[in-house]
Amino acid sequence: MIRNVKLIPVFNSKGNLTVMAKVYTTKEVFSASVPAGTSTGKNEAVSLDVDVAIKRFNSIRTNFTGMDENEWRDVDTFIRQIDGTENFSNIGANVALAVSIAVARASVDNDLWRLERKYAKTRFPFPVGNIIGGGAHGGGTTWQEFLLIPYKAKSIIEAVYTNIEIWKIVGEELRREKLLIGRNIENAWMCKLDEEKTLEFLSKICEEWKVKLGIDFAASDFWDGKSYNYKKGKKLSKKEQIEYIVDVAKRFDLFYLEDPLEEEDFEGFHILKEELKDRLVIGDDLYCTNVKRLRKGIKNKSTNGIIIKPNQVGTLSQAEEVVKIAKENKITPIISHRSAETEDNWIADLAIAWRIPFIKTGIMGTERLSKLNRLIELWNSIPNVEMAKVW
Ligand code: PGA
Ligand code: ZN
Repeated sequence: MIRNVKLIPVFNSKGNLTVMAKVYTTKEVFSASVPAGTSTGKNEAVSLDVDVAIKRFNSIRTNFTGMDENEWRDVDTFIRQIDGTENFSNIGANVALAVSIAVARASVDNDLWRLERKYAKTRFPFPVGNIIGGGAHGGGTTWQEFLLIPYKAKSIIEAVYTNIEIWKIVGEELRREKLLIGRNIENAWMCKLDEEKTLEFLSKICEEWKVKLGIDFAASDFWDGKSYNYKKGKKLSKKEQIEYIVDVAKRFDLFYLEDPLEEEDFEGFHILKEELKDRLVIGDDLYCTNVKRLRKGIKNKSTNGIIIKPNQVGTLSQAEEVVKIAKENKITPIISHRSAETEDNWIADLAIAWRIPFIKTGIMGTERLSKLNRLIELWNSIPNVEMAKVW
């Protein structure tokens, strides 16, 4: 039984305040903290300023006393009811999610990966690692993230090792060639190369290491309502951007294409998906982990992949529903960190609980490694483990 719920202001990896929830039950104390985005989608649930959010929450927190943590989905429903809005603008999606996860943790004695236990074998997600960055996260390119997928890995440690080794090699080579600017907010390298030069550079390394290459374009960030504006002055119309993405995806054999178009272009995504069969065309800002937007994407046959970021929607059970509907419609879920992270590792557990085949959580930096190390810990403590079946 829940005795009390408290919120504590803590810092995220960008040095901004976020919330940690502490749920006190008759057994123990369970906690969870939540991340924040930088290149956020305009349809995300609203996160409030931490001071305001904590003050508001303190006026309602006694309502949780006496609730049963094992009925964590009911607690989520209750959180939505007391907020009373579609987008959590009253209590804040950051608060809603922190409480939701801490309560869910209480229901499984902290082992969030046990939230759903339906299968004899436990499958682990392939890590999608941000190697070179740009866009709103900082870096030379207009596109936001160049991503590695170590698809040959037979274990999670081999997968993580592959991404880390490539990260070291890429950093050294960029430094040697005097192309290195530094590291961005997700600890991806920032370099002086443009988009295509970055792809040429990475393609060679990916071939040697047998990893697949992906991109999060975060295209809404360089769309002004009329054209896609590239850093070096290039301007592309909707149609030209689609043609360019198809050309680049084929030339550089990109397996993973996240937000290649702006966040309202459901039809454009459909054209791309048809042109790029056998590759993942993924919506992040397009969907914002929102069930209504996912349904629109299904109707338009927009994508075959969806990013799952629970803080875009507000509670765990809402994110769970999105994953379920995506799977029913053969849309691959990819669970993801945010650029401003905490050391909390719940996305790792959720990837296992919800059988999600990819986890996007960066490569280096303690706030990224905490998720990867959690997966390694679980690989070594759960019997009957294997990598996700995607290839
Ligand atoms: P964000 O970016 O966390 O800054 O929103 C990550 C992404 O776009 O995938
Ligand atoms: Zn994204």
